[in-house]
Amino acid sequence: MKAAIRRKYGPPDTISIEMVETPVPKENEILVRVHAATVNRTDCAILLGKPFVMQFFTGLGTPKSPTTGTDFAGQVEAVGKEVTSFQAGERVWGFNDSGLASHAQYLTIPEHTAVLKIPEHISYEQAAASAEGAHYAYNFINKVALKAGQKVLVNGATGAIGSAAVQMLKSMGLYVTAVCNTSNVALVTALGADKVVDYQKEDFTQMEEQYDFVFDAVGKSTFSWCKPLLKPGGTYISSELGPHAENLYLPLLTKIRGGKKVVFPIPSDIKGSLRFIQNLLETGQFKPVIDRKYPLEQIAEAYTYVASGQKTGNVIIGFE
Ligand SMILES: NC(=O)c1ccc[n+]([C@@H]2O[C@H](COP(=O)([O-])OP(=O)(O)OC[C@H]3O[C@@H](n4cnc5c(N)ncnc54)[C@H](OP(=O)(O)O)[C@@H]3O)[C@@H](O)[C@H]2O)c1
Repeated sequence: MKAAIRRKYGPPDTISIEMVETPVPKENEILVRVHAATVNRTDCAILLGKPFVMQFFTGLGTPKSPTTGTDFAGQVEAVGKEVTSFQAGERVWGFNDSGLASHAQYLTIPEHTAVLKIPEHISYEQAAASAEGAHYAYNFINKVALKAGQKVLVNGATGAIGSAAVQMLKSMGLYVTAVCNTSNVALVTALGADKVVDYQKEDFTQMEEQYDFVFDAVGKSTFSWCKPLLKPGGTYISSELGPHAENLYLPLLTKIRGGKKVVFPIPSDIKGSLRFIQNLLETGQFKPVIDRKYPLEQIAEAYTYVASGQKTGNVIIGFE
């Protein structure tokens, strides 16, 4: 089979497409023919081996898996002897933030990990685009007690995480202000945002309106910039560590001090996220944003584009 291979951590030009052995499923695994995967920001971190802490999961010094890829949507080709919940021919999607070797024509995955059947009306591309960013978005949302009618500001509303967060928050009945650039105002309005702030015309940190939550889905702000935007007791969450990794210690400091808080979202329970997302997909409350599609042969270009930090939603790798 064809697979994207790299044998050391490094930039996109370390990847090449090679012919390798098709994996054979163990007794508890399914073999999936991959139809779509994404190149996402987690893939970029795994490709580079940065931040270094990532290497504790993906291989210290040298990547454990030469094949990249963390999410997939495809068709079950074969199942191991002990597998009871899947059968050949079913359409499935899944995600693992430390790697699934999904940038290949086939992959194997244990049946009891984060893999689910794809709802009938959802395409392979839509399913693949519903995994990584939406999982992290859900892990912002499930770290705080949200109530319908509360006000939340989402910075970076056009990213994979932000575009999923806006839709999830709207499905829960929150009032959402979304920050994006001029060219994406129409997109973000279509995602359901109640108010859109164009960051090329206005600095959202200088606004007078106050919020119960500020979610910075692209990690471009700091707690101190956003503190005036928060109502008393309001919560700030960023997807990045911030200057001097402050978002790691501010949660404890702000908890001790009381008042406005910082929460750092350590993502967990991927299968729980996929179930939550699947329910939104089935009820039409979440439609993943897809930016572009690349064939597997152009995966290095896809990585370069995603690493630029300028994608809108998700970038698909297609397997024709
Ligand atoms: N903590 C975690 O576990 C975790 C996991 C995964 C990812 N991350 C991090 O989360 C961040 C977001 O990931 P993602 O996949 O959603 O990102 P992404 O899709 O790459 O985000 C790109 C989007 O961000 C927008 N953007 C860039 N600069 C902006 C700014 N100054 N203000 C507002 N929007 C801006 C861009 O819009 P424009 O076209 O307007 O520039 C683009 O649409 C990344 O920094 C990633 O490293 C964290």
